[in-house]
Amino acid sequence: MQLPRQVRMVEVGPRDGLQNEAQIMPAATKIALIEQLADAGLCVVEAGSFVSPKWIPQMADTAEVMAGLKRKPGVSYPVLVPNMKGLAAALAAGVEEIAIFAAASESFSQRNINCSIAESLARFAPVAEAAHRHRLRLRGYISCVVDCPYEGPIAPASVADVAARLLAMGCYEISLGDTIGTGTPGRIEAMIERVAEAVPRERLAVHFHDTYGQALANILASLEQGIAVIDSSVAGLGGCPYARGASGNVASEDVLYLLSGLGIRTGVDLARLAAAGRFISQALGREPASKVARALAARAA
Ligand code: HMG
Ligand code: MG
Repeated sequence: MQLPRQVRMVEVGPRDGLQNEAQIMPAATKIALIEQLADAGLCVVEAGSFVSPKWIPQMADTAEVMAGLKRKPGVSYPVLVPNMKGLAAALAAGVEEIAIFAAASESFSQRNINCSIAESLARFAPVAEAAHRHRLRLRGYISCVVDCPYEGPIAPASVADVAARLLAMGCYEISLGDTIGTGTPGRIEAMIERVAEAVPRERLAVHFHDTYGQALANILASLEQGIAVIDSSVAGLGGCPYARGASGNVASEDVLYLLSGLGIRTGVDLARLAAAGRFISQALGREPASKVARALAARAA
């Protein structure tokens, strides 16, 4: 299959990244980060989540972040919503896009959102219905599309089943999450081929954590499978609080360097993206995990 000419990069660092940092970043720092990411040309910047603050205290100030953010026309700032309570908070904050998040693994679903897959889908149905009534864009996530930290390998058919359900609920896009980063290109290809029987490829996105250093290889395999939406976190921030040992998302700078090298358009400026990565890494007191960001910094020194 021909590689896509254009890719939409979905920046998840301010949510997926910062939700897993031991240090809680102040709302002002999150706002500055999100604004820098939008200024770098990203047209989707996930801004936070309306989940239980007891479960994820790092995201407890999402309403404050949304209130303080200068929203750029043409940029979407989605937030994660697990239930109707989260939806009410999202509506109060004036969000225009939400994401619901399910799993292809029963044990992960229990640990992450305290219910079975079937219960989670039943819980999301009224959220999706209300989202449509309020004209919010609705994205869907599926975790553990390759392996589960508690159950091991997950059958591609299970991923396809959940994907079909999320599509039927009205998700405009479904992001396939390799939550613990164990996937390799052959398994990713097989999984996408199976899911594509249930959901058109143009409605799929990929979401790789880079725990085993396979994310860029998996992204190339996904592009070859006709996927043109890629989630990533600036500076490689992130992980998952319910998947021990899971490292950050693939770094946005590294994804952009790969895509540019392949001649694929994204509309994102590497220097500005790397500057946003340096900003948040400094706030966290460490180096960016992105190899490209480090190489650029070394070249500039
Ligand atoms: P629960 O304990 O079963 O829920 O949690 P509950 O309905 O029984 O409520 C318990 C308490 O939570 C109550 O408060 C509720 O009011 C409160 P209390 O009476 O004890 O004071 N509560 C809420 N508070 C604020 N906002 C809400 C909300 N809902 C209930 N929306 C629940 C169920 C889903 C709420 C909980 O498990 C939860 O919040 N989980 C969050 C999990 C999470 O955010 N995980 C990380 C995101 S997913 C991810 O990172 C994967 C992804 O990146 C893809 C990949 O890589 O795989 C997307
Ligand atoms: Mg994730």
